[in-house]
Amino acid sequence: MNWGELDRKHVWHPFTQEKTEPAPFIVESAKDASLYLEGGNSLLDCNSSWWVNVHGHGHPKIQEAINEQFAKVDHVIFAGATHHKAIELADRVTTLLPSDLEKVFFSDNGSTAVEVALKMAIQFWHNQGIVKKKILAMRGAYHGDTFGAMSAGERDYFNVPFEDYFFSVDFIDFPEEKNEMQVLEMADEYFSGGEFATLIVEPLIQGSAGMRMYSGFFLDRLVEMARSYGVLVIFDEVMTAWGRTGKMFALDHLRQNPDIICLSKGLTGGVLPLGLTVTTDKIYNAFWQNEKHRAMLHGHSYTGNPLACAAACASLELFKHENTWEKIERICQLNFNFSQELQEKNYPIQVRTLGTILAIEIKIDTQGYFSKIRDEAYAFFLKNGLLIRPLGNVIFINPPYCLTEKEHYFIFDKLRQFLLLL
Ligand SMILES: Cc1ncc(COP(=O)(O)O)c(C=O)c1O
Repeated sequence: MNWGELDRKHVWHPFTQEKTEPAPFIVESAKDASLYLEGGNSLLDCNSSWWVNVHGHGHPKIQEAINEQFAKVDHVIFAGATHHKAIELADRVTTLLPSDLEKVFFSDNGSTAVEVALKMAIQFWHNQGIVKKKILAMRGAYHGDTFGAMSAGERDYFNVPFEDYFFSVDFIDFPEEKNEMQVLEMADEYFSGGEFATLIVEPLIQGSAGMRMYSGFFLDRLVEMARSYGVLVIFDEVMTAWGRTGKMFALDHLRQNPDIICLSKGLTGGVLPLGLTVTTDKIYNAFWQNEKHRAMLHGHSYTGNPLACAAACASLELFKHENTWEKIERICQLNFNFSQELQEKNYPIQVRTLGTILAIEIKIDTQGYFSKIRDEAYAFFLKNGLLIRPLGNVIFINPPYCLTEKEHYFIFDKLRQFLLLL
């Protein structure tokens, strides 16, 4: 069987210009931080397969949990029915989160977790007969590819064809160190009109924008301000949760908490699709009414899928074992040391780290997602045994936590080799 030919014939891949990009490599198996390819080569999964895989591929504890769950309940409708693993997961997640985040709404992925959050925030006001309809987001944001998530995201090449269909959202600038005060003033001006239902942000780091980091000091001030105006705050932690920033959640670095948090990606250990939108009793209570139409009338066929919930419970349990936090700490430290090393060199780069994420922004003429350095870097690393999928001119790693020290140093070596070519 020629799998490559068959793939070309029938499969349409995401985020891919199929006419010009090379054929995809075929992964035959995956274990820990490695992907084993048809033809015998292997790659280190330096971006955790779209930032989802936290404990490594093929973890036996997650496999066992899925198998056990399959033997009990494979899938079941989640309206009018519930099941043990969804309940256990809701309990585990709310125990990890700040105490007022108590109510868990299930969906399938990061985009739907965001859609649910936006709908929750809008309907919260609507159910009380209060007219607050505006949404504030941050320039450069990425919240997913569904229409609500796109509306709250940066308007760029990705969504130009759809712009006319987006709902209106206002944006504050990205808070660089120099302009934090101006951005806060901008937010204050928006909020002071009293029309804003909600503010949505990726806390501390904008992922798809190129792993752009901003200060917790700024975010605390922004959240505090939003709350003082009665604006609901949504943290999109689809990328930042589950240890990525060095703590369980990005909010663990902050003094202020959101009213709603969106979770997905590494939630199941990166094994099955699942999204959670977690909120407060205050928001939940605005839907707790006698009229049926005031309920959260939203759901998906696979909402609360028991296999995904079982994988998520097993993944959360793993954070208590196998020295997971020591591994995270080691990755953070090695990334930080390497960033210091690079800063002392004369490369045309800007390097930044947050937790297990290391990002190297290459200063070249053609910046942005379609920068040509992106294709060169991607090809270079593939040839050298690394799956690193740069975001335009930003090369970054956010590996699974099982990455060994030896593998980590191997990645650094290859990064050095690439930078020497610049
Ligand atoms: C911050 C953030 N929100 C939402 C999403 C969308 O998640 P999904 O791809 O699972 O729909 C992503 C995906 O990269 C993300 O980084």
